[in-house]
Amino acid sequence: MKFGYFDDKKREYVITQPDTPLPWINYLGCEAYFGIISNTAGGYSFYRDARLRRLTRYRYNNVPLDFGGRYVYLRDNESKEFWSPSWQPTRHDLEDYTCRHGMGYSVIGSSYDGIEAHTRYFVPLGENLEIWQLTVTNRRETKATLSGFASIEFCLWDAQDDATNFQRNFNTGQVEVEDGVIYHKTEYRERRNHFAYFACSEPVGFDTQREAFLGRYRGWDKPETVEAGALSNSIAHGWSPIGAHQVSLELGPGETKQIVFVLGYHENPVEDKFDPAGSQTINKKTVKPTIAKYLNGVEADAAVEKLRLYWEQTLGVFQVNTPDIHTNRMVNIWNAYQCMATFNMSRSASFYESGIGRGLGFRDSNQDLLGFVHMVPSRARERILDLAATQLPTGGAYHQYQPLTKRGNNDIGGGFNDDPHWLIIGVNAYLKETGDWSILDEPVQYDNEPGSEQPLYEHLQRSFNYTLSRLGPHGLPLIGRADWNDCLNLNCFSDTPGQSFQTTTNKDGKVAESVFIAGLFVYAGRELAAIAKMRGLETEASRYIGETEKMLAVINEHGWDGEWFLRAYDDFGRKIGSKDCEEGKIFIESNGFCALAGIGLEDGKAASAMDAVGKHLATKHGIVVQQPAYSKYYLELGEISSYPPGYKENAGIFCHVNPWVMIGETRLGHGDAAHDYYSRINPSAREEIGDLHRCEPYVYAQMIAGKDAPTFGEAKNSWLTGTAAWNYYAIVQWILGIRTSLDGLEIAPVIPKNWPGFTATRRFRDVVYEIAIERRGDGNSIALTVDGEAIEGNVVPTPADGRKTVTVKGILS
Ligand code: BGC
Ligand code: NOJ
Repeated sequence: MKFGYFDDKKREYVITQPDTPLPWINYLGCEAYFGIISNTAGGYSFYRDARLRRLTRYRYNNVPLDFGGRYVYLRDNESKEFWSPSWQPTRHDLEDYTCRHGMGYSVIGSSYDGIEAHTRYFVPLGENLEIWQLTVTNRRETKATLSGFASIEFCLWDAQDDATNFQRNFNTGQVEVEDGVIYHKTEYRERRNHFAYFACSEPVGFDTQREAFLGRYRGWDKPETVEAGALSNSIAHGWSPIGAHQVSLELGPGETKQIVFVLGYHENPVEDKFDPAGSQTINKKTVKPTIAKYLNGVEADAAVEKLRLYWEQTLGVFQVNTPDIHTNRMVNIWNAYQCMATFNMSRSASFYESGIGRGLGFRDSNQDLLGFVHMVPSRARERILDLAATQLPTGGAYHQYQPLTKRGNNDIGGGFNDDPHWLIIGVNAYLKETGDWSILDEPVQYDNEPGSEQPLYEHLQRSFNYTLSRLGPHGLPLIGRADWNDCLNLNCFSDTPGQSFQTTTNKDGKVAESVFIAGLFVYAGRELAAIAKMRGLETEASRYIGETEKMLAVINEHGWDGEWFLRAYDDFGRKIGSKDCEEGKIFIESNGFCALAGIGLEDGKAASAMDAVGKHLATKHGIVVQQPAYSKYYLELGEISSYPPGYKENAGIFCHVNPWVMIGETRLGHGDAAHDYYSRINPSAREEIGDLHRCEPYVYAQMIAGKDAPTFGEAKNSWLTGTAAWNYYAIVQWILGIRTSLDGLEIAPVIPKNWPGFTATRRFRDVVYEIAIERRGDGNSIALTVDGEAIEGNVVPTPADGRKTVTVKGILS
């Protein structure tokens, strides 16, 4: 069953039923001001940091679902009926409801009783504000006399404190209203120099005190003032400040009117906070021109057009046309768009991430670069330098940092022994994309300590050495608190209810080892060696290669189980992920990653591992983490066994790691298998089973319930997941085979046998490559011609004569 359809031409997903199985979300903003918006206008906004600078309130895990939002009400002043064109919060019956989620905007609307209304929500580029354009058309044959209302609830900035510290917060709320603009200034009187504002193009009334707007014991579905048709011009003192505007809509038959609302964030210079100086009144001179500008509908339209062009250019870096519509749609539009969201948010703010639990993850953000770096390399560069500055002098890393302060967040823990290697992979993705070697010489602090600056290259060396000084009894890397699988906690031994598996460690961790980290070390070590070589550091390069060779030998001796790669050794030195285990005999991570890294390609191990994955882990909805699922809690395994079988890391289909197997299959030359795995979890290809899948069909979810779960096939935790970057990377760079390398753009497709070929456009280092691949045989060997001339090998040379467009033809046989 479907709940809408793709409009690929407009790059939109159109939802045609408001009560989707879960709120179907979009993101507004792609720079510093962000918002989450659901298909019924639920969600919230923040500036840079979803925890520390939350502008509006949202009620997570509430009933009814998805409460707190950008709410618009219309009231027919004759019949006194009122409704919300976005369905929520009134949930009044509507006709022709649609929500169009597009690139950085959403348009939500409907018709009711001859009144058509929709609101376009978006954040203009370069601004710290969002615009709501409400358009109302009277389709009746008679005049309509309506009132319109728009409302939000302010959050008192720190979302964690806002949701817990009521004895203080019920006293601090303050607003000002001037020229019809509502200014939210809680704590501005003391240490803050920022405020929020909510403005309207034609205000006739307002409210800023929640209780005055809603009425006692009423909810957003039935505000007393909206019911009565008049706001009360209340001024909030303490309690819960809100922003509500009223407008008049007198519309003749066929007449249309547009009202603009602007919600924004503004900072003043500390010494210039008040006007007049010495008063307690906000200095509004610095913000008024911006407000006036965007309350003008013509300016708002121009800003939407700019946003459209921005996305056209950003997505235009890579476009493909294959025989598979789901591949095209995800690669050309939605998967790339999701990569922007994961780059911006990491795992911090979604419908499933509350914005207060996590900041930007070290391993997460580094991996996110794989799907993002080609879109805006300059921002990738900045992110890499920020991440590296939170690295510890040991080469280890804070697991997370707060985006506002850019400081490591100790609450979330550290000592995840895979973390450092992702920095090498992230930096190399940047180098391959841009060829900008200067980044390696950038001085970067350790642990944000002034004076500790060393070139970024040294950070990579410390990442590599971190593992070498943490090897276990078999010579494999010690796992630390966990590796990629946050829930395989082999040193935790937690028997206390509620204790965090992410921060509790009981053992000194000198025994438990990870085969996954061994594979990662080999992969990252080879990347580092290639970087060193390009820099002419031959001796260093051979040292890195020497160490990876040693690790390979250890993997062969202690990391192979006969048919597949082992997963780990526990604190007792016992195997995990072995045929000898009772449960958890085979895992995806070590097998997928070793194959991806090319480990065991020559001696048949990779092929055998991929066969075993296909046999034991693959399902019609994707590949599960391990089998058999853990049926009970194992003290020595930790959080993985805390989940009921089939969910999350306990044998769920973790979509993030499926692409490792896809890439592994391409390394074996198996294009059919790789694309088949790709399609099983491709959200667009799952659109038809929307009532089972339940999450948005236009973005990946972190997890699909595995075959051991009663809800097999149900997706959870959409949007913020490493799945976005890895799937993008797998399909574009390994299956379509249009791959960045330190030497240039490589073309090596491993596509399904029944594809006659495909065409693609790739903008790479300022040159546009028009690529056409034609299949003439069953295999994967490719012969390339560049502008009509045959070339050796599969790296397209950069045009020597400064040409900006190059035509590449590839014949597969
Ligand atoms: C989840 C993991 C996540 C970890 C850290 C665990 O509860 O299962 O997927 O990585 O928390 O936030
Ligand atoms: C989600 C986390 O964000 C990521 O860092 C981790 O690798 C996976 N869960 C697996 O546990």
